[in-house]
Amino acid sequence: DTDHFTYDPGFTSTGSCESKISFIDGDKGILQHRGYSIEDLAENCDFMEVAYLLLKGELPNIDEKAKFETDITMHTMVHEQLHKFYDGFRRDAHPMAIMVGVVGALSAFYHDSLDINDPHQRMVASYRLIAKMPTIAAWAYKYSVGQPFMYPRNDMRYAEDFLHMMFAVPCEDYKVNPVLAKAMDRILILHADHEQNASTSTVRLAGSSGANPFACIAAGIASLWGPAHGGANEAVLNMLTEIGTPDRVGEFVAKAKDKNDPFRLMGFGHRVYKNFDPRAKIMAKTCHEVLGELGIKDEPLLEIAMQLEKIALEDDYFIEKKLYPNVDFYSGIILKAMGIPTSMFTVLFALARTTGWIAQWNEMIEDPSQRIGRPRQLYTGEVDRDFVPLHQR
Ligand code: SDX
Repeated sequence: DTDHFTYDPGFTSTGSCESKISFIDGDKGILQHRGYSIEDLAENCDFMEVAYLLLKGELPNIDEKAKFETDITMHTMVHEQLHKFYDGFRRDAHPMAIMVGVVGALSAFYHDSLDINDPHQRMVASYRLIAKMPTIAAWAYKYSVGQPFMYPRNDMRYAEDFLHMMFAVPCEDYKVNPVLAKAMDRILILHADHEQNASTSTVRLAGSSGANPFACIAAGIASLWGPAHGGANEAVLNMLTEIGTPDRVGEFVAKAKDKNDPFRLMGFGHRVYKNFDPRAKIMAKTCHEVLGELGIKDEPLLEIAMQLEKIALEDDYFIEKKLYPNVDFYSGIILKAMGIPTSMFTVLFALARTTGWIAQWNEMIEDPSQRIGRPRQLYTGEVDRDFVPLHQR
């Protein structure tokens, strides 16, 4: 019955889009950013190089990288009045609730970067968001533990500065472990962008109405929070903790296969990857490296995760459904080893994905054919009903 099918002439106006930023081949387990493989980028770049690549389409040379890092560093502080926003939250507020609120509130402070039709203002807003996310995120953690907020440091690199704001206190000097800074940098790269996932599509749809970039990123954070999406890394740690010992893994695999049981193995499966998520392989390697360099020999959650992966990958159900570990399966174990609480895992995902979101938002705004998004609908409800007055119903 196409009479009620809302037809949109424009391809992009259905929420689908063309993009030059990220390419995924789900069958082959391939992820590329601007044509470079995620393996090459994770192995040879730092997060600032990848952020530059996503935003501008090319890897920076030495001078371009130095200038970009300086420009970002110069935006890491936030307006001092934003401090007060945290006081409005309960101390036990989920940090993602704080992120949605505070990032959205940036729209009320940076009026000189709200005009989406001005390329300069768009770039200023983009740099501000990339620069301020670590500060806002670290302060959400500090607020939850009742410690003073630490200000960003201009003499520190992006990942190092974030960890410093997370764990330093004013009473003494704090040296960020370079092993953890390097691991954090790689985790940020692995989460930076991923084509048209739920939260990126949310940012694009919000942006297609002309909403300001801070409001669009707040919308992306809200979408990412769900356990089926960015909230999965926190859910994986909770699941591994609930499993408790490797000998209980089989019990949970059986639950995941039971059609009558809503339980799903967190960190497994993907809308697009029907082969290994290439990010999961790099994350697993990073996990072993970090635990090794930290001298953590018998992390029980890693034992459980490896046993779970082994059993699931040999199980006909998972083979038939093409379910493999995704980016979230091992990330939480590394973050836990860094001393980051599970409630902050999705905040880290949002911190990293802000670069991808803002690159995709810019690409959409710069596309002259772009129209307001209007996803299609197939109407399946009642039609042409006779009205019955209240006293006759
Ligand atoms: C991210 O889109 C992106 O790119 C997202 C992301 C990004 O970088 O932005 O990659 C980040 O969100 C990764 C995914 C994190 N989520 C989880 O780990 C949560 C657990 N996974 C599932 O909820 C699920 O796999 C999804 C949500 C990820 C995908 O959902 P789909 O598309 O409905 O699942 P599918 O097509 O892969 O499922 C095929 C079948 C289904 O069974 P049938 O309905 O066909 O009978 O496999 C089943 C599902 O029920 N299934 C699972 C399962 N995942 C899917 N069964 C048990 N455990 C699971 N984890």
